[in-house]
Amino acid sequence: MATRHFLTLLDCSPDELRNIIKHAIALKNSPDLRDESMKNRTLGMIFEKSSTRTRVSFEVAMNQMGGSALFLSPSDTQLGRGEPLEDSARVLSRMVDVITIRTFSHASLELFAQHSRVPVINSLTDDYHPCQLLADMQTFFEHRGDIAGKTVTWVGDGHNMCHSYINAARQFDFELRIACPEGFEPRADLVEANADRVQILRDPVAAVRDSHLVVTDVWASMGQEDESLERLRSFEGFQVNHELMAHAASDALFMHCLPAHRGEEVSAELLDAADSVVWDEAENRLHAQKALLEFLCCRD
Ligand code: CP
Ligand code: NVA
Repeated sequence: MATRHFLTLLDCSPDELRNIIKHAIALKNSPDLRDESMKNRTLGMIFEKSSTRTRVSFEVAMNQMGGSALFLSPSDTQLGRGEPLEDSARVLSRMVDVITIRTFSHASLELFAQHSRVPVINSLTDDYHPCQLLADMQTFFEHRGDIAGKTVTWVGDGHNMCHSYINAARQFDFELRIACPEGFEPRADLVEANADRVQILRDPVAAVRDSHLVVTDVWASMGQEDESLERLRSFEGFQVNHELMAHAASDALFMHCLPAHRGEEVSAELLDAADSVVWDEAENRLHAQKALLEFLCCRD
């Protein structure tokens, strides 16, 4: 059977994604299902950027499913000394059973996957963060039911998380409005390919009107630290707070992949308010990735 990778949400069909989320909810609600499905299996984790949630959730997921995880930092492996990605992929995939990578360039992740014998999972690139979207969708399903036909508003930078929301709009069948300042739009090709369900607006208030879910992310992502000050100015007026949420649907949820910068892209009050489901969202990284690992590694 051909090796399946999870580099973007488009690597699975809409039905497969829904089944992964269904299974994640079942795993969360039935501790008995924490079986030994990954027994004797090893997950290799290559992280070129910092991580709390992604790293810990993958490592705990493997432990709870009877397997183990191996953290590989480029500074301690030959990757950091210039061994080609293709060679590292060939070698590692002869030893471990599944590999997850957090890196900068999405093309590097694709190159690695092309030379890997085992499934490769995107743990975040500059272009996409699909594992986060599994958790986000799980969280919406748990709190509000099916997201199909709903309206979601992204407020902030058109970067990796926003791109994954565009893919999610297509795969989970919802309308996505993106409110961002000029110069911070998501990739034009992605917007064009999904023009039937994705639109860019400049006014956050108009964008969130009657939305069922409002989402944001930091204004300066990993790798953009040098632009932090300039971005603070560019994103003025794009903070998600109670005032903005008041324009959304009365039962609208707020999500943020975290880490959050309180007082910048989100107000401190909103992050801890009842309509914020960010802590469930973070916990669901664990459950969603367990379901994903089983989907990729335990198919007959
Ligand atoms: N949301 C997320 O991916 O968090 P980490 O950077 O802590 O993994
Ligand atoms: N957009 C953020 C997400 C962090 C999980 C970043 O790339 O740093």
